[in-house]
Amino acid sequence: MKRSLGVCYYPEHWPETQWAEDTARMAALGLTWVRIGEFAWGLMEPVEGSYDWGWLDRAIDVLGAAGLKVVLGTPTATPPRWMLSKYPDMIALDRDGKPRGFGSRRHYCFSHRPYRVECARIVTAMAERYGKNRYVAAWQTDNEYACHDTVLSYSQAASQAFRDWCAQKYQSPQALNRAWGNVFWSMDYASFDEIALPNLTVTEANPAHVMAHRRFASDEVASFNRLQVEILRKHSAAPISHNYMGQITDFDHFDVGADLDIAAWDAYPLGFLSDRLAATPAHKHRFVRQGDPDFQAFHHDLYRAVGRGRWWVMEQQPGPVNWAPWNPDPLPGMARLWAWEAFAHGAEAVCYFRWRQAPFAQEQMHAGMLRPDSVAAPAYHEAGQVAQELAQMPDVGTARAQVGLVFDYASAWAWETQPQGRDYSYFRQVFETYRGLRRLGLNVDILPPDTADLSAYPIVLAPGVATMSQPLLAALAMHQGQSLIGPRSNSKTADFAIPLPLPPNLPHLKATVARVESLPPDVPVPLTLGGNFLHWREKIETSAQVLETTTDGWPALIAAQGLQYLAGWPDETALSRILQQLCHKAGIDTDPLPEGLRRRDTETHQFFFNYNPVEVEWGGKIIPAAGVLWQKLS
Ligand code: GAL
Repeated sequence: MKRSLGVCYYPEHWPETQWAEDTARMAALGLTWVRIGEFAWGLMEPVEGSYDWGWLDRAIDVLGAAGLKVVLGTPTATPPRWMLSKYPDMIALDRDGKPRGFGSRRHYCFSHRPYRVECARIVTAMAERYGKNRYVAAWQTDNEYACHDTVLSYSQAASQAFRDWCAQKYQSPQALNRAWGNVFWSMDYASFDEIALPNLTVTEANPAHVMAHRRFASDEVASFNRLQVEILRKHSAAPISHNYMGQITDFDHFDVGADLDIAAWDAYPLGFLSDRLAATPAHKHRFVRQGDPDFQAFHHDLYRAVGRGRWWVMEQQPGPVNWAPWNPDPLPGMARLWAWEAFAHGAEAVCYFRWRQAPFAQEQMHAGMLRPDSVAAPAYHEAGQVAQELAQMPDVGTARAQVGLVFDYASAWAWETQPQGRDYSYFRQVFETYRGLRRLGLNVDILPPDTADLSAYPIVLAPGVATMSQPLLAALAMHQGQSLIGPRSNSKTADFAIPLPLPPNLPHLKATVARVESLPPDVPVPLTLGGNFLHWREKIETSAQVLETTTDGWPALIAAQGLQYLAGWPDETALSRILQQLCHKAGIDTDPLPEGLRRRDTETHQFFFNYNPVEVEWGGKIIPAAGVLWQKLS
C-alpha cells in the first residue's frame, strides 16, 4: 500500500483567488489528501432550506484539478445559528443543568431527535451532490465526537431518550430495580417515566444508574454516527472515517468504528503532554518539545484496532497549538518523526492540521504549515521531506505484535463511576502497562474487549477490565500462551454489582479477592522482589501458585497454568520485572531501550524514534535528537 500525506484546509477562510496557488503548493509539496468542509454548514445552508453549494463545488474542482484527493467532512459539529432559533432545546445541558450555548462548536445534544433529522437532511444533500464526485475520495463524519466534554448531556431530550433506552433494555421497571439494586435507599421506580438522569442527586447516585447512563450516552453517539454513515453509503463508494481524539474514552470507539471504514485520529503530541498526560514534572520537562514517547504510539495501535486495520492521522500537530496550558514549539524534526512513527504503526495517511494559520477567531495562535502571510512554517519543510522519503520508500507493511493488550471503554466508565481511590484511572493503568511493554522494545496490538481468539498472541494482558466478556474469558481459557490479568479485573457485573463467586473468577485460577484497598500515592506497598504496588492493592486468598508476595505477606502475583493474576497496580520497577518474566516464559526476547528511544518493527523494517532532546547511541548507531532511523530487517 502507498502511504501518503495530506492537510486540513478551509477554503472558506480565504479569498477564492488564493485557492489555485494554495492547491498548487500542496501538490508540489507532495501532499495527496485535503480534508475540507467539516465546519462549513453555515455557508452550505446560510438560510434554512436554501443551499449554497457553488463555493464548495468550485473548491473541490480546484483541489481535484491540482491532482489532490478530497476528504469531505459532514458539518454537523457546527449547526448554524438559525438552527438554534428553530430548536432552542437542541443544546446540551451540563451536569448542573446549565445550557452549553452558541458561539463556538459542538453545541448540540446527541439525543435531540429533530436535530438528527436536520443532520440527516444536510448529509443527504451533500451525499447526493458529491457522492459520485470523482475528486471526493473519502468522507469524515462530524468532527471529534466527545471533544469539549460533549457526550454527556442532561437535557430533556437526553432524559427522554434514556428512559426509552432503559425500557428497551430492562423491559419492566421491576427488572430494572432488581438489576440496579434499587431496594437500597428506597430508590425503586414504578414506571420508566419516573427515571431521571443521574445528575442533581443529593449525594452520589446509584453507580448502576450512572453506568447505565454512560452506556446509553455511548450508544447515542454510535447511533448518531450510524445515521450519517447509512446515508453516505447509499450515494458513495468512498471510505468513511471519523477523527477520534487522544485519551478520550467517553464513548465506545469500537462501537462507532464498527460502522466506519477507517478510524482516524487527531494527534497533538505537545498539547497532550501539557494538558492530559499524568506524568511527573521531570518527564514533562524532558519531553516538552517532543511529546510523550508512548502516547502517540498507544493511540496508533488503539485506532488500528478500532479501524480493524485501516487507520489514519487526520490532524497532525504542525507547530505550537493554542489550547494547552503551555504551547511550546516542537523541536526541529518532530513534525517528521511523528509522521514516520504513524506510518511505522500502519497509518495509511497522515494529514497535518492546518494548511495556513488563521489570523482570526479562536485558533489564531495555532500554527499551520504556512504562516498567516503564506510564508512556509517549519512543518511545511518537514512534511516535504517526509513526502520525498515516502516516494523512495517501499511499503513498510504492518507487523503483527506478539503482545495483545485489551482496551475496554466500558471499564473507563466503570472506574470513573466508582474510582474507590481518587487517583484510580483505567486509561492510566492500561497506558502504563503499554509503556512498560514498549520500553522492552515490544510491538503491541490493542485488542477489543470481546476478542474471542487470542491464539495469535504469545502474551495477552488485560489490566482493570471491569466486566470481562464471555468471549474473552473463553478465549483465555483456551489460550496456550502467557496472560497477565488484574488488578481489579472481572470485579463487576455488567449491571455494576460485585459478582458472586467473588472476583477474579478466572479460568483455572483458584483465587478470591478477599479485600481491596486504595492508597494515597505516598503509601506504597513494597514487593519482596523489589518495586511497589501503588494506588491499589488486593488481598487474595488462593491455593494457586504464588510467584511474588508483598512484604506484608500477601500474594502479589499468582498463577495457574499460563494465566497470571496481579493483585495491585505495579510501579515502573515492579512492572518491568513482571513483564520481563512473562516474556521469558513466553520465549520472547526483550531489549530494554534507553529513556525516550522507541522501536517499532514492521514486516520489512526496524524503526527507531528518538523522543529525546539529545542524541542517543544504540546498537552502534547514533540517532539524533528528534531523529528517526530505519533499517531493513534481514
Ligand atoms: C482539533 C479539532 C480541530 C482544531 C484542532 C486544533 O481538536 O478537530 O478542528 O480545533 O483541534 O488543535
